[in-house]
Amino acid sequence: MGFIKAAILAGTVAVFAATSAYAADVKIGFIVKQPEEPWFQDEWKFADIAAQEKGFTLVKIGAEDGEKVQSAIDNLGAQGAQGFIICTPDVKLGPGIVAKAAANDLKLMTVDDRLVNADGSPIEDVPHMGISATKIGEAVGETIVEEIKKRGWDMKDVGAIRVSYDQLPTAVDRVEGALSVLKAAGFPEANIFDAPQAKTDTEAALNASTVVLNKNAGIKHWVAVGLNDEAVLGAVRATESVGIAADSMIGVGIGGADSAINEFKKPAATGFFGTVIISPKRHGYETALNMFEWVANGKEPEKLILTAGQVALRDNYEQVRKDLGIE
Ligand code: GLA
Repeated sequence: MGFIKAAILAGTVAVFAATSAYAADVKIGFIVKQPEEPWFQDEWKFADIAAQEKGFTLVKIGAEDGEKVQSAIDNLGAQGAQGFIICTPDVKLGPGIVAKAAANDLKLMTVDDRLVNADGSPIEDVPHMGISATKIGEAVGETIVEEIKKRGWDMKDVGAIRVSYDQLPTAVDRVEGALSVLKAAGFPEANIFDAPQAKTDTEAALNASTVVLNKNAGIKHWVAVGLNDEAVLGAVRATESVGIAADSMIGVGIGGADSAINEFKKPAATGFFGTVIISPKRHGYETALNMFEWVANGKEPEKLILTAGQVALRDNYEQVRKDLGIE
């Protein structure tokens, strides 16, 4: 081998070694608001795959309130991380999170829930990946309308539970997307009942929905919408607890993680009729990869990525999951 060729080869090896040594120095945080929720566990799972592929370290932290968010960010800074992705417990923490990230010299991206300024407008500088909330909500609405017609219900005899979490913009877009389709199909506005949940989990949705059902005991057929599967499952559990039969309830969620799947696996159909499956792979793997590219190669992520969803029912959810590559 000639001297020059050998030198070039050696150089290549040195560059390669330097890159991979650098990847091992990259540390990225992934903070989520509800670590017990299957959606977030799936996000973490796919982020871990990106970390393994690229050879960086992923630090997963659950932060259920503002204080925990603050200390999580400080902690990442102290550990020498270079950036983090967060789904915050409260989007109004936005300016504080941006400031904390900057103080710790950490790059910041958000996932699922987009940070807002003090006036409620989105913080557009922070790269974000969320779902196309209105469109996905509309898919929920279309699924419900179709099923109401199939069951031959008269819309004026049907109640709709709007499990709501109105302090979160994506939650509003999702439920309003669904309800706009219902209304356009002739669903009476007076039959839509707000069930505000204190937290975005099943128990809070169950409590809120039970109030609505008890106040409207005369209504025999129900539908339910909410920001995620947990919200709709809460409404479904509420109908069961007041003795409304499964075939008198049409709940359609958003998510498609274990919360929905466990429901579809039950031997008999429940009032949880369907879900719009969204992609924890894109939200976990892709955000982690984008952060890595930003840290390691200076490649800035897109400012806003909105992902799609696909309706799935009891009899086809496995295929839909396969199509989305999230089996
Ligand atoms: C919000 C919800 C989660 C999930 C994500 C998807 O964070 O709370 O359950 O639906 O959005 O983006």
